[in-house]
Amino acid sequence: MKLPHVPKSPALVQMLKWIFQPMPFMTDCAQRYGDIFTMQLNAPVVFVSNPQALEKMLTSDTKEFAAPSDFNTVFEPMLGKNSVITVSGEVHRRQRQLLMPPFHGDRMRTYGQVINKVTTQVISQWEIDKPFCTRSAMQIITMRIIMQAVFGLYEGPRAQELEEILAVMLNENSPLRVVELYFPALRMDLGPRSSWGRFLRRKQRVHELLNAEIQERRDHPDPSRTDILSLLMAARDEAGEAMTDAELRDELMTLLTAGHETTATALTWALYWIHKLPSVKEKLLQELDTLGENPDPSSVFKSPYLNAVCCESLRIYPVGMLTFPRVVREPVSLCGYDLEPGTIVLGSIYLTHQREDLYPQHQEFKPERFLERQFSPYEFLPFGGGVRRCIGMAFAQYEMKVILAKILSSWDLALVDENLEIYPKRRGLVTGPNRSVQIVAKNHHRLPSRTLESSNI
Ligand code: HEM
Repeated sequence: MKLPHVPKSPALVQMLKWIFQPMPFMTDCAQRYGDIFTMQLNAPVVFVSNPQALEKMLTSDTKEFAAPSDFNTVFEPMLGKNSVITVSGEVHRRQRQLLMPPFHGDRMRTYGQVINKVTTQVISQWEIDKPFCTRSAMQIITMRIIMQAVFGLYEGPRAQELEEILAVMLNENSPLRVVELYFPALRMDLGPRSSWGRFLRRKQRVHELLNAEIQERRDHPDPSRTDILSLLMAARDEAGEAMTDAELRDELMTLLTAGHETTATALTWALYWIHKLPSVKEKLLQELDTLGENPDPSSVFKSPYLNAVCCESLRIYPVGMLTFPRVVREPVSLCGYDLEPGTIVLGSIYLTHQREDLYPQHQEFKPERFLERQFSPYEFLPFGGGVRRCIGMAFAQYEMKVILAKILSSWDLALVDENLEIYPKRRGLVTGPNRSVQIVAKNHHRLPSRTLESSNI
């Protein structure tokens, strides 16, 4: 089988470049070979960044392409075997069907209050002239929001322990951890002090806490609850079957992890650009001013410039570099190459968002591009597409806007070092800033009409 352009370096070198410098490696390949090329990783993997080809692979999911989980095994140690991310075919379709309703756009209004409340609580702890790491601050906010959205009002020792262990596990992004994920043979439990041993013990504890929560809900059902876990426990598939406890536990793990780290990173980038570029900040503040005191989250959500800033943040350095792998089912032609069944294909979100023909001066942060033209779902795809499109897309977009609006209308912030250039790098299986984005509060209540105390909580 003839695969699209393959770099000549040995497979191990390509694998190491992929692990340690995925974005420069992809850019280098795209500059040499164009819209389609193959990397020699654990197996040959075809990377695609052409919108027509992406449309074909993401909309032909049931015919020419499948989206099996066989290649998502890197997620299995964290999420388990019953997560929507690690199951395939009919089981995947069923899990998605059961998971989707709480994430439908119409449900967002329910979460607006929680998002506003948690953000207000966290940012009221910030102090003037005391710098902090933007990512850590955003992670505290998004973790609490997803915990409350999933479990409802959630306080007490179990909630606290769960939050603490998950935060530690997700911040463990050492190169060793990434290597362990890509090379299963290295995953050895050499006791509680070893890297993998620590991971396994923490995961075991998280499972105990989640199982205890599920059991308690089974023992004391409360039909008035509308949190995500209650909806998942009440959901039935076409055959009238509910999720098993193991499915519930792995889906909780999936939502709690996929549901906050990504959004925290996206918010960090947005805050970085807003405070790096004074004209962007000014325009955004002007727009927020027009919303009046205590704006309703749905009017915040509809604000055009705020939307453009969020889109441009997700375009320039997408948190997810790639779609999950798709596999060719029937012979198919992609960018002039005939691909045979079994070929693994990845959509490169990163490379697509860097295309100069779509995004002129693609290295510059220009929210206006999203006001000037409409991009197709295959030109702008920070949440992937097709049968594995991000389940939390509406939630994440809503959350980003409501949090940003709350922060910007409550505090006057500045970057500690405005000249510092920050770039994306791998953070585990996703990406994030290559160093801490330090930010500092200069003043309270930038918009005099809005105060923390009077905010809509
Ligand atoms: C800015 C924030 C986020 C970004 C950039 C993001 C990005 C992505 C991407 C690129 C995919 C792969 C899609 C594909 O293969 O076509 C994905 C899948 C997924 N995301 Fe997100 N995501 C975000 C937030 C969330 C949130 C808040 C949740 C849940 C609360 C979530 C849950 C999921 C799940 C469960 C999948 C797997 C879907 C499947 O396999 O069927 N994500 N996300």
